[in-house]
Amino acid sequence: MAKSHSVFVCTSCGAQTRQFFGKCSSCGSWNTLIEQKQSSAPAADSRRRRPVAAAGELKGELAGGRPKRSEPIHAVGERPLQRLASGYAEFDRVLGGGLVPGSLVLLGGDPGIGKSTLLLQSCRAMAARTSVLYVSAEESAQQVKLRWRRLAEMGESPPELPEAQESLEQAPGVADLQLLAETDLELVLQELESLRPAVAIIDSIQALHDAELGSAPGSVAQVRECAAALARIAKRQDTALLLVGHVTKEGALAGPKVLEHLVDAVLTFEGDRFASHRLLRAVKNRFGATHELGVFEMRDRGLAEVSNPSELFLGSEEPSAGTATIVACEGTRPLVVELQALVSTTSYASPRRSATGIAANRLHQILAVLEKHLGLPLSRFDCYLAVAGGLEVE
Ligand code: TYD
Ligand code: MG
Repeated sequence: MAKSHSVFVCTSCGAQTRQFFGKCSSCGSWNTLIEQKQSSAPAADSRRRRPVAAAGELKGELAGGRPKRSEPIHAVGERPLQRLASGYAEFDRVLGGGLVPGSLVLLGGDPGIGKSTLLLQSCRAMAARTSVLYVSAEESAQQVKLRWRRLAEMGESPPELPEAQESLEQAPGVADLQLLAETDLELVLQELESLRPAVAIIDSIQALHDAELGSAPGSVAQVRECAAALARIAKRQDTALLLVGHVTKEGALAGPKVLEHLVDAVLTFEGDRFASHRLLRAVKNRFGATHELGVFEMRDRGLAEVSNPSELFLGSEEPSAGTATIVACEGTRPLVVELQALVSTTSYASPRRSATGIAANRLHQILAVLEKHLGLPLSRFDCYLAVAGGLEVE
């Protein structure tokens, strides 16, 4: 039997130590080290217990009877990049024009923001054209089915939104969607290998667990091992993988930095819990530009695209004191947003400065310029600045 020992892993940067410290010696964060039991030969183990994967890789390498070697760059065959439409123009734009076969996309966001809804809705459009596997590790098959039914009803509601309507019309019989409610990594891998779907969705990567690793689901080692195993299989059989990831209390994608290196694109889905609009952004994208913004609205029957978000981010139509309309550029799309400012006499020793939706340093800088060059005595006033609609602009 393999001997097990403990290591301490930093949940923020993934660094490992043998000893517990209050502060991570690698990234300097406090109280981020957690204990993990490890078997003494994990690397050898994982290589041994995936005979199917190993054999598949070997076949590719030994094609033509010799091991794979380097080759001149001009001899490398080019495949045209066939992107798969997600069914949403907003989603496609953030992806850089659609889903690339064999790519790994991590979709992060707070719980309840609508990640599962977004992906299940895209499934409707994608499954009409290609094979899709939806792995639900958090919800039961019944729960997914209920949501699916609820979203399906949207297609029959009055056509308020032409884009969303169109994508649903493309899915008349809703063809090839397979549903698997499973948390065991090994079974998920087997299903991926036997079905070989064009698209697979894992909801969520933190809920999957590898029984051979001792640690709890959602721990750094588990997330890393599960994502790496899924990535190997996705690249080998050209399956586009969409992984759902949760966001930690600090707002970073849980799981943590290790996952961001492994995947081709990192998207974040954010929004105000109390407002209905949701923003989809690309933080990293190997197949497209970052800083693209997709805007959705959460309705009672799922997410709808907002193709003219400026309407959403403009406050009242009447011009009023303290507001200014600016044009911000988010990705390739200009957005008209409203800035709201309030200046009032301070009753504190040092005046309050508060910025929402815009970097606080920018506010400080502008206030300093106004004070120095226009002679406005702003250091005696509290200054508040906000972007209407909960948007963040640069
Ligand atoms: P969900 O996709 O489950 O969030 P996540 O997977 O990111 O945790 O979204 C759940 C929220 O969305 C929940 O608060 C209810 C709301 N919702 C609607 O408002 N309308 C809908 O049609 C659906 C399916 C969900
Ligand atoms: Mg979910």
